[in-house]
Amino acid sequence: MKVLLTGGSGQLGRALRPALAGLGEVIAPPRAGFDLGQPAALAARLDALRPELVVNAAAYTAVDAAEDDRDTAFAVNADAVDALARWAARHGVPLVHFSTDYVFDGALGRPCRESDAPRPLNVYGASKLAGERAALASGARALVLRVGWLYGPNPGNFLATMLRLLAERDEVRVVADQFGTPTDTGFVAAAAVAALRDCLVRDAGWGLYHLAASGATSWHGYAVEIARQATARGLPLRCAARAIVPLASADWPTRARRPADTRLDTSLFTRTFGVAPPNWRRRLAAVLDSWSPFPT
Ligand SMILES: NC(=O)c1ccc[n+]([C@@H]2O[C@H](COP(=O)([O-])OP(=O)(O)OC[C@H]3O[C@@H](n4cnc5c(N)ncnc54)[C@H](OP(=O)(O)O)[C@@H]3O)[C@@H](O)[C@H]2O)c1
Repeated sequence: MKVLLTGGSGQLGRALRPALAGLGEVIAPPRAGFDLGQPAALAARLDALRPELVVNAAAYTAVDAAEDDRDTAFAVNADAVDALARWAARHGVPLVHFSTDYVFDGALGRPCRESDAPRPLNVYGASKLAGERAALASGARALVLRVGWLYGPNPGNFLATMLRLLAERDEVRVVADQFGTPTDTGFVAAAAVAALRDCLVRDAGWGLYHLAASGATSWHGYAVEIARQATARGLPLRCAARAIVPLASADWPTRARRPADTRLDTSLFTRTFGVAPPNWRRRLAAVLDSWSPFPT
């Protein structure tokens, strides 16, 4: 099988590349060779590449920047997904696409289900919602997986940033009133490929799912757990877990509004594919055990 992986340089893309290798030849062109910012050009690129499976891990993921760059966010996260999905539908090619917990407003007070009405609070969430809707409406055999709070062995995510700040500063302040589930890219990649294999074998099960580790915390709780686990592994920190100060979102203004509670209910994924999500703290321990972030 010839697999086209977009976003292969991103944190999820890097985990997907080896996970997809068991399915066939993985082609992961750089942005310059397959630019989702130019949706109208994608069908011709796909005609030339002729993939038998498309896995879209590329996205405009700068949540704050998207507020001032709506056109690019929608081009990459919505129009390009529409183009990929229409091509996939025309050619009978399956599509795997990733969306976000930020399609929700976070006001439900319980984990969000696939059947809950999305109501994005920011441009990034709105653009991702348009993208997932395009994928699902295209008629392609599409597996759309909503994920959130992703991290992997790479710089530029919360884990890497927190390890750096905890090593540099005596005091670190972290938002304590936004809740979700830290989820590592290794688990998401493995679970996505397991689900895809199942869909291909049964030619059933396509659709929208929530995929996350189990348990939940706030960004502050996540930072405290990072400090605890890093200390237990002998990493030198200036700021101990107890010195991490909880903050209210109101005291940490950001360009984009963020939802307060985007815990994802993953029971549909578990029921359909028989994958039970691992506890987020245990996965954090596993990632820290082999911590050696790849260079930018
Ligand atoms: N990170 C999270 O916490 C999170 C949360 C919820 C959902 N998600 C979703 O999970 C998926 C993977 O996210 P991630 O964290 O792996 O993102 P990431 O690390 O920011 O990687 C994004 C990838 O998309 C590529 N890309 C961006 N614009 C592009 C364009 N115009 N054309 C082609 N490629 C482009 C980037 O390429 P370059 O290397 O060239 O920049 C990079 O490979 C996305 O669908 C995202 O919306 C992520």
